[in-house]
Amino acid sequence: MIKPESIENLKSLIDIADVIGNYVQLKKQGSNFVALCPFHSEKTPSFVVSPSKQIYHCFGCGASGDAIKFIMEIEKLTYPEAIEKLASMYNFKLEYTKGNSFVHIDLLERVNSFYISNLYKNQNALNYLKQRGLFDSTIEKFQLGYAPSSQEQFKFFKDANLNKKDLIELGVLNDSGEYPRLIERITFPIFSQSGKIIAFGGRTITNHPAKYINFTNTKIFNKSKTFYGLNFAREHILRSKRIIITEGYMDVIMLHQAGIQNAVATLGTALTREHLPILRKLNPKVTLSYDSDTAGINAALKASKLLYKEYFDGGVILFGEGEDPADAVAKGKNIEEILKNEIKFADFIIEYMTKKYDLKNPVEKKQAIDEFRNYINELPDILKDDFSIKVSQYLQIPPNILKVRTNHMQNLNLNKKIDVAEASIVKTLYENPNLMDEIIEYLSPQMFNTHFEELDAVYKEDFENPKLLEIVLRDDIKSLDIKTLKNQIRKLLIPYYQKKMLEIKYSKTLNNEEKMHYLKKINLKLLKLKKGELVESDIPV
Ligand code: CTP
Ligand code: MN
Repeated sequence: MIKPESIENLKSLIDIADVIGNYVQLKKQGSNFVALCPFHSEKTPSFVVSPSKQIYHCFGCGASGDAIKFIMEIEKLTYPEAIEKLASMYNFKLEYTKGNSFVHIDLLERVNSFYISNLYKNQNALNYLKQRGLFDSTIEKFQLGYAPSSQEQFKFFKDANLNKKDLIELGVLNDSGEYPRLIERITFPIFSQSGKIIAFGGRTITNHPAKYINFTNTKIFNKSKTFYGLNFAREHILRSKRIIITEGYMDVIMLHQAGIQNAVATLGTALTREHLPILRKLNPKVTLSYDSDTAGINAALKASKLLYKEYFDGGVILFGEGEDPADAVAKGKNIEEILKNEIKFADFIIEYMTKKYDLKNPVEKKQAIDEFRNYINELPDILKDDFSIKVSQYLQIPPNILKVRTNHMQNLNLNKKIDVAEASIVKTLYENPNLMDEIIEYLSPQMFNTHFEELDAVYKEDFENPKLLEIVLRDDIKSLDIKTLKNQIRKLLIPYYQKKMLEIKYSKTLNNEEKMHYLKKINLKLLKLKKGELVESDIPV
């Protein structure tokens, strides 16, 4: 941990106008500075920086805080990372509390230098990397090295006066301290987001049965929260709004070498829930590019299911048979081109979940349906409809077979009120086609929770549609007078637009400006609806 006194000392040194001036053009205005706000798009400046108060505030979007907050927001960093960034801007040496990071990280840097110097002494190791297609500049950028024999390493640890307990604690030595974790392997330093070494991975070049060995988790390294290469990729991810997630060290390294600098890898583990907060912060479109062997496809399926459920936009790239991204780069394939052929998460999930089953066999088809139903059950309500419709089209089954229990609140609405409400709207329009022109402006089928197909049929004048006929023929569903009809629609639209607001808030495809635009628009609509007016349906789906 960074010492609190040290943070205070740093704070007293920094000037907010100075810091923000590195990112936006400030103009003096009285005792303050003004600028175009970097957090929302605007044409006239409403972003104010106050040197006397050492704060910034945007009168347009409400963003505000001190210099540290500004760095956190603009660089998307955590608090300690922002402190470290500011410290480096001011050439300020932070002090860390004892027993943690500072000493240790320094220790790993020293071990790394030792491994690097050994790479250049070992022609075999160097040849191996060259033969895999790595440029010198790539080897340097990723600080690849070579871990020599156990004996040579212990000699170095002794000469360099490195503490055995620290070496064990940070994973360089095994738990009993008897031998180094990596012996006669190419070494890959694993960096934190801010570029500090937190662990190592190592690859055999002598066909050792364990192809890769990674450090086990330590107090500064947690495999399931780390992306290899993120320190290099971060700014490219922010700029391109896309992250390429691969399985391995070599994939990241080769992709970066090929100019795909937004690539990272999970570390010998699948993508886990613990990785998601990091992704959410960067807010990118996520592209999984895993090996196209069975293990790779299964990992991609699992990760897709997780990401889709958690509202991430993106998809999966499948490389050729038995090929991974590193191989594709080494073969000189056009990666940019390959990256265009991403299969969207929902489509990938449906296609690959289905692949396990022989749909011609009714028993297996039922198993497939059951598996989908279970997954749909896990989805947030907002995603359930879309996904079910896709599945029903793919499996050529009616969507209601996939019907799953929704949560209680919705259940209540669906069964007792909304269904009847929807059905009576459908029936009214069926019986009074002259109303259609007016109503179609306010009400589109996707606004319905249940009878969207029937409403669509009315609009398309598909009067033979069996589901539509079912409603039309039911005596307990009454046709409405125009006033009640409008009122009924209004009542449906309120929850619809409320749900829409949520979707827009969590959308991965809209940028902040678009979000603001739509949220404002919907807010207005809701106000009108609550006052008793109907509103045009002009928000894209
Ligand atoms: N891995 C591991 N232990 C293994 C094999 C793999 O920890 N015995 C992890 C490593 O992090 C590796 C990743 O899984 O980078 C992907 O494995 P694989 O595709 O087998 O490795 P590649 O990167 O393709 O290996 P290479 O190209 O060097 O043969
Ligand atoms: Mn691979």
